Amino acid sequence: MYAVIMESEESSPEQSEPPDSSPSYDFLSRFYDNISAPGEKRFTRAGLALLAPARNETVLEIGFGTGHSLVSMARAVGENGRVYGIDLSKGMLRVTQNRLNAAGLTEQVVLEQGNATKLPFEPSFFDAVFMSFTLELFRAQAIPRVLAECRRVLKPDGRLGLVSLVETNPLTMSQRLYLWAHHTFPRVVDCRPIPVVPLLEEAGFAVSRHEQDSLKGVPVSMIVARHQSHPEA
Ligand SMILES: C[S@@+](CC[C@H](N)C(=O)[O-])C[C@H]1O[C@@H](n2cnc3c(N)ncnc32)[C@H](O)[C@@H]1O
Repeated sequence: MYAVIMESEESSPEQSEPPDSSPSYDFLSRFYDNISAPGEKRFTRAGLALLAPARNETVLEIGFGTGHSLVSMARAVGENGRVYGIDLSKGMLRVTQNRLNAAGLTEQVVLEQGNATKLPFEPSFFDAVFMSFTLELFRAQAIPRVLAECRRVLKPDGRLGLVSLVETNPLTMSQRLYLWAHHTFPRVVDCRPIPVVPLLEEAGFAVSRHEQDSLKGVPVSMIVARHQSHPEA
């Protein structure tokens, strides 16, 4: 949440070919756990609990950062389950690989370096996809592309788990401040609250579970969404 995303607000979708790596997150990867707001992890844990990866499932985390959630997901799906992670940053990949080695989970978790706007997976491959404090890094035009990719790789009964800063209407004072900081210092404050539920609905998802909390006055949503056609949606 503290470095600039490779696809900035200024660039158009046409201009922005997926970058090969994320230098800012590469740099941050070594101390990301120390600088990311300590409060953030509790939202991520709550989001994972809501998604509830189950034994034997095949699951994906997009933007896995330093890999804490991948470890939890691997333990939840067990030896016969499969966990995949994709992140743009080679540095994050390195840190996460070390974490998986230490946890003895290298066999069970497959890491990819790649871009969420073009997931290197077959359609209908995953039971669940998880994304925490990552969707709100993408510029507005790229978010539908990322969500369309999530929808493509999920099975028809699959679940998308999201943890995200939320933009409400009207905006609260904290949201205004956050948005101001994002627009004024985009290289430092690379994320911003986004209208998560409308974005999900426009992308063909329906929210099936939703919890909300707040991070220094900015609402944070923990959501499970399914294809709109799913009976539980
Ligand atoms: C704010 S961090 C969140 C990390 C982790 N999910 C968490 O909650 O701590 C965002 C992560 O998304 C990754 N990322 C940024 N742009 C990406 C992209 N286009 N595709 C895939 N991952 C990306 C970054 O490298 C970083 O690891």
